[in-house]
Amino acid sequence: MKSFLNDKLKWYSKNLNQYFLDTIYDTDKLMVDLPQDRWFKINPTRGMKKAICCYDLAGIDSKISDFLVNIYGETEYNRAVIDRKILRFSRRMVASGGGLYPNLIYILIKTNQVVNIYQFDPALCVLRLIEKCQAAESELEENACYFISTLYYFRNWLKYRYFGYRLMNVDAGYLLANFYLEVIKNGLNGEIYFSSELFKLARKYIKIDLKKESICFVVKVSDLNLLDSIKKLNKICKYQIFDDWDTQDIDLYETIEKTALGQKYNICEKIVDEGKINILNSQIVSQNRISPGGAAMQSILPIDKDGLLATLSDLDVFLKHVKYLVSDLNIYIYIKKIEGLEIGIYECFLGEGGKLKFIRPFNENLQIILKKHNFNFDDTPALIFVGSKSCFDFMKCKESEFKFIQLEVGFLSHLISVAAALNGCYTHPILGFDSKLCEEKIAKKHILNLIAFSDAKTLDRRRLMY
Ligand SMILES: Cc1cc2nc3c(=O)[nH]c(=O)nc-3n(C[C@H](O)[C@H](O)[C@H](O)COP(=O)(O)O)c2cc1C
Repeated sequence: MKSFLNDKLKWYSKNLNQYFLDTIYDTDKLMVDLPQDRWFKINPTRGMKKAICCYDLAGIDSKISDFLVNIYGETEYNRAVIDRKILRFSRRMVASGGGLYPNLIYILIKTNQVVNIYQFDPALCVLRLIEKCQAAESELEENACYFISTLYYFRNWLKYRYFGYRLMNVDAGYLLANFYLEVIKNGLNGEIYFSSELFKLARKYIKIDLKKESICFVVKVSDLNLLDSIKKLNKICKYQIFDDWDTQDIDLYETIEKTALGQKYNICEKIVDEGKINILNSQIVSQNRISPGGAAMQSILPIDKDGLLATLSDLDVFLKHVKYLVSDLNIYIYIKKIEGLEIGIYECFLGEGGKLKFIRPFNENLQIILKKHNFNFDDTPALIFVGSKSCFDFMKCKESEFKFIQLEVGFLSHLISVAAALNGCYTHPILGFDSKLCEEKIAKKHILNLIAFSDAKTLDRRRLMY
């Protein structure tokens, strides 16, 4: 099995830039064969570590419980799929390619020179204390909560194979945006890090094996109430996990991650305190923040323009709290069926109230850009494209830069989704599209994500839970 996983794409280990380019422009190459019966073996404990103590976060009044559940908690648990033994298809507060959620969350807290290392387990809604260890004096700030997110490759690999690397990093950006929203919603003191030094330190404490897992971002929150709520956790959960019995090493990813960690980068985005943000309503977001799929996107009549305009304006409000995170990106929109807006290509100006500028008329059925024809693009009211501002050279970029740009793409995309949800609209991210064709038709920039946009059909999501 091991050689089967590794042989076919060994060449990429020495040609990482070509690999990066192929994850955008030649994705079919990256699908190695795997027997059907191994495709969707979903082991919910994959990546979960054994604990010294396990705290139940379900049904308790606690800041840390609200914080983690609002960010990455499960909202639906689809038994029908389990019974058919296909896939444990849960849903969460963020979208994820294939619903596989390859990102894991850890917390490091140093108090009196002792570091407590926790892992959040969304499936059981518990916080596992996985280790306590002595810390060096200079390492980690006392009493700050370091939230660390990793990519656990095998959770995504079984379905997406080597295409999954970029996808997991975009997923991580979605998750990062949810951290960010929770920080600004509560007016907390937070910092986002993409830093080789901090990643190395966190890796040492969590004992991360780069053959299986790697760090994608750190969010530091300094808030005594949040910290206190972790210390006060006392509802012990007696469940212990069985071993993660089937994860295999992904050598190519280890090579990329080792190289990236050897590079020097230190991006620290201090989340600007602009006062609490009132528009974020978790209930509305959880009702509408779903990827409804093709059929649900097919409105018979053109939709009203207010939903889209308000979405872009709220997006701009969200972005006031960050300086750098989306500075490399542009948003293009193909408006097709929105009342009062001419059919064509638009650009959205961030930092200027999300203003729309008409670029040129365009009226084509973009069905051909889809890899999987599970959408009717001719009827989808608008398609939002997240593209790079400058023409980024993927053949020359460093490994860490490639990771960072995908993170930015996911970050901006999730903020668009949440702003849409708040304004009664659905979005559906689609990474399975032909980037080259799309760039020819839409904009001569790298187009790195595509989001289908429509108004939302109000559902009673509560009935769908569990
Ligand atoms: C980065 C990213 C890429 C995605 N790509 C596709 C895609 O190519 N095709 C598709 O149908 N859905 C795609 N999705 C949507 C996921 O399938 C969906 O988020 C997941 O099934 C969970 O459902 P939910 O978003 O409704 O909670 C993508 C989601 C993300 C975050």
